[in-house]
Amino acid sequence: MNAGIIGLGRCIPNRVVTNADLEKIMDTSDEWIRTRTGIEERRIASDEHNSSHLAFEAAKNAIANAGISADQIGLILVATVTPDRPFPSVACMIQDQLGAHKAAAMDLSAACAGFMYGLVTAKQFIESNTYDYVLIVGVEKLSKITNWEDRNTAVLFGDGACAAVMGKVSENRGILSFELGSDGSGGKHLFQNDAGHIEMNGREVFKFAVRQMGESALNVIEKAGYTKEDVDFLIPHQANIRIMESARQRLDLPEEKMSTAIKKYGNTSSASIGNALIEELEAGKIHDGDLLVLVGFGGGLTWGAVAMRW
Ligand code: ACO
Repeated sequence: MNAGIIGLGRCIPNRVVTNADLEKIMDTSDEWIRTRTGIEERRIASDEHNSSHLAFEAAKNAIANAGISADQIGLILVATVTPDRPFPSVACMIQDQLGAHKAAAMDLSAACAGFMYGLVTAKQFIESNTYDYVLIVGVEKLSKITNWEDRNTAVLFGDGACAAVMGKVSENRGILSFELGSDGSGGKHLFQNDAGHIEMNGREVFKFAVRQMGESALNVIEKAGYTKEDVDFLIPHQANIRIMESARQRLDLPEEKMSTAIKKYGNTSSASIGNALIEELEAGKIHDGDLLVLVGFGGGLTWGAVAMRW
């Protein structure tokens, strides 16, 4: 039996920061941000809420949605580049808060591909019959590593958390195929600098992402034994609408078959793909039995994709 998602939850900070708000604190414009990135607003967590807080709330919601109890979870994986501190891990912090007494716990660092790395890692443990249930959380408080004086990056990011409980689903459901990859030689294009801020060569990341998103999406469709005509919905990492559009066009999908959650949330890195999935499920755009492609890329450089029967 395949591993698949059996419960989802998220935690989105209440504070909305619009492009107009950013116009007041830096030399930018709503028009520039919308046309170059597709972002209209993002959420920023309050000072007292760190990644562990957002992760805990999202995880609690996902466990309730899955209809299991926390002590049935065998492993907790938290994908994040903004943990509260290097250790203890966010995964250990929420393991205690959730009362997931039997779970092993670790953080996973793959930047914006983190949720994909989490899904695929969970799949291995479930399909090898090691654990019945694995909890994955993608969480970021990117606002704390954003340089608010750098308009090249500050307009792009947002905070949030998403969580998924993975377990066994039927033979032709769940994760059908996957691809993970990395290219450490591209680490220089996107990293946390010595001042603790995100530093990015936007054009290089853009070129890499356009190539990788389309290729990885097509690869997982083929590995699952399908063609692009079979795909019902695309959930790309919500980094830039132009990158996402190029992936959509490679799959010949109409506009309404791709998530554009980026408008409301910006780039939430590890939380982006799971959050977009929840957004589209709540909007009624994803239906039982749909063939989904989830695909992401991030600092590292990293990438990952899955084909999934919902
Ligand atoms: N407001 C107004 N003008 C701006 C802004 C801004 N916020 N930011 C940059 N500009 C200016 C630049 O200074 C430049 O001006 P110049 O021509 O006078 O020098 C001009 O706009 C064009 O800049 P470009 O960098 O060429 O703009 P581009 O069209 O490439 O868009 C962007 C920049 C949005 C950053 C794009 O390159 C991009 O999205 N890259 C990928 C980013 C990404 O996906 N990152 C993933 C992060 S994932 C993770 O792991 C955290």
